[in-house]
Amino acid sequence: MSRLTTTLTDALGLDVPIVQAPVGSATCPALAATVADAGALGMLAVTWRDEAATREVITETNHRTDGVFGVNIVADSDAKDVPTETHVEVCLDEGIDIFSFSFGDAAPYIEQIHSHDGTILQTVGSAAEAKAAVDAGVDVLVAQGWEAGGHVQSTVATLPLVPRIVDAVPDTPVIAAGGIADGRGIAAVLTLGAAGAWLGTRFLATEEAHVHRRYRQRVLGADETETVYSALFDEGWPDVPHRVLENTTVADWKAAGQPETERPGGGEVVAETDDGTPIRRYEDSLAVPGIDGDVEELPLYAGQSAGLTQTVQSADELVNTLTEETVEALERAN
Ligand SMILES: Cc1cc2nc3c(=O)[nH]c(=O)nc-3n(C[C@H](O)[C@H](O)[C@H](O)COP(=O)(O)O)c2cc1C
Repeated sequence: MSRLTTTLTDALGLDVPIVQAPVGSATCPALAATVADAGALGMLAVTWRDEAATREVITETNHRTDGVFGVNIVADSDAKDVPTETHVEVCLDEGIDIFSFSFGDAAPYIEQIHSHDGTILQTVGSAAEAKAAVDAGVDVLVAQGWEAGGHVQSTVATLPLVPRIVDAVPDTPVIAAGGIADGRGIAAVLTLGAAGAWLGTRFLATEEAHVHRRYRQRVLGADETETVYSALFDEGWPDVPHRVLENTTVADWKAAGQPETERPGGGEVVAETDDGTPIRRYEDSLAVPGIDGDVEELPLYAGQSAGLTQTVQSADELVNTLTEETVEALERAN
């Protein structure tokens, strides 16, 4: 039996309690399948994919791996065009049996997913939210702390959040997210009572992640002090705080006194997608390959864990490195 067996590995059939977090459009079949092949949980974020694209990424991932992977759906309807119920239908139809919901309630979909023998994960940001989710029938919780990259659900840091949630729902596996980028972090959250670790920023620095080269370079070069938590990049998904690397867009807005309206360069086109769609300065667009223009001005989503993210590895090498580091860290602690 692996020394890293937990209630999460048992529940989902994983070799190691490591999750490649859903990192929006940076997820892709190559990333999720490579992670799944390495014995960890691969995730496809489908929120910003339409029905056809959702089917396509699931089919391709299935072709690439026999390992375990799931989908993430942001349940906040302000974030996207495709209704959550449509995404759920499409994913069930494609045979998905691991669903993660964030930024909203999984409750409306629990009965339907359970009737297909599916497992439901929900991201929460407090002990009260955790209790409510478990009472509604959620199977696994993701406790996402404030230091996380991308959009952030909690105002509490991972270190106090995880044990609060573990204590609130002792019979439910809890996966810790936010600020974890190496085996020391994984060992730490396992010690706090988590059954697994959910790493986002660290997986941006893999060969398979679907991210623009210049974005990845900024993540690799960033210190832990270089991220900013704000609701600045609100065009596309308003009023939800997120953590990004400080760039010129953020610095100019700070220098202008952090105005809520009439922000510097508001409405200005800074880049365009590969099909020529313009991207304006305060849009929520993730910097994927093929974007042309001032990529560095876009929201460079990253957590404080960027400070620990210094090398690019293939995703399977990363899972192996993280596993070895975790075992070593736990042995040291013993
Ligand atoms: C580029 C990026 C995109 C993200 N997209 C999503 C998403 O689509 N859905 C979601 O629930 N969380 C999303 N997140 C949050 C991650 O799932 C995860 O909670 C976070 O990255 C954990 O913190 P870490 O970056 O310190 O590892 C995103 C994070 C990043 C960095």
